[in-house]
Amino acid sequence: MLVAPSILSADFGNLQRDIEIICKNCDLVHIDVMDGHFVPNLTIGPIVIESVAKVATKPLDIHLMVQNNSFFVDLFAKYKPKYISFHIEEEKHANSLVQKIRNYGISPAIVLNPHTNIDSIKYLIEYIDMVLVMSVNPGFGGQRFIPNTIDKIKELKDLIERINPQCLIEVDGGVNNQNVEELKKAGVDIVVAGSYVFSGNYNQKIESLKV
Ligand code: DX5
Ligand code: ZN
Repeated sequence: MLVAPSILSADFGNLQRDIEIICKNCDLVHIDVMDGHFVPNLTIGPIVIESVAKVATKPLDIHLMVQNNSFFVDLFAKYKPKYISFHIEEEKHANSLVQKIRNYGISPAIVLNPHTNIDSIKYLIEYIDMVLVMSVNPGFGGQRFIPNTIDKIKELKDLIERINPQCLIEVDGGVNNQNVEELKKAGVDIVVAGSYVFSGNYNQKIESLKV
């Protein structure tokens, strides 16, 4: 299992320190961008991402929770993240946005809210490198994992195997050492974890998710 700590739960007064610590052990640095419109929270913008990009020694995984995806893709491309993911619920022109991300040399990924059917991305899977399955409602860290996410992941895994076996599955929300094994069995490649990692010893927490 690859581990992407969500810096939403980091200590923002000591952000450089926290990023240096997690980068000793993690695989990706997950950055939650919220615009106060698509979700009722306002988080990280270009100034903070620029600073994070300078300090991080692992690739950036930018998760957009915004209304105007294309604008934010243009804004963040220069920080050369490994992934930019956008919510399918908020994008009318998903195919062209995927191409735009790809043309920047960034891996395109699509996010599904807990209620969103996997059929909504059936004709996009062949063009993307990752599907991010939300296992909580987007907007805040520290929520409880929604159990039926497991069934959804299994269905998604079947679809991906048929259409684009290279495409990875990432899960975000309520992940901890109690559910990571089940996620692995269901077909997950990358877990995002915020509140679990940034409480206690960060590196021991990351280690406990590498099942
Ligand atoms: C929620 C964010 C998550 C969040 C996860 O909208 O996308 O990345 O930080 O936090 P935990 O792991 O605490 O659920
Ligand atoms: Zn996220």
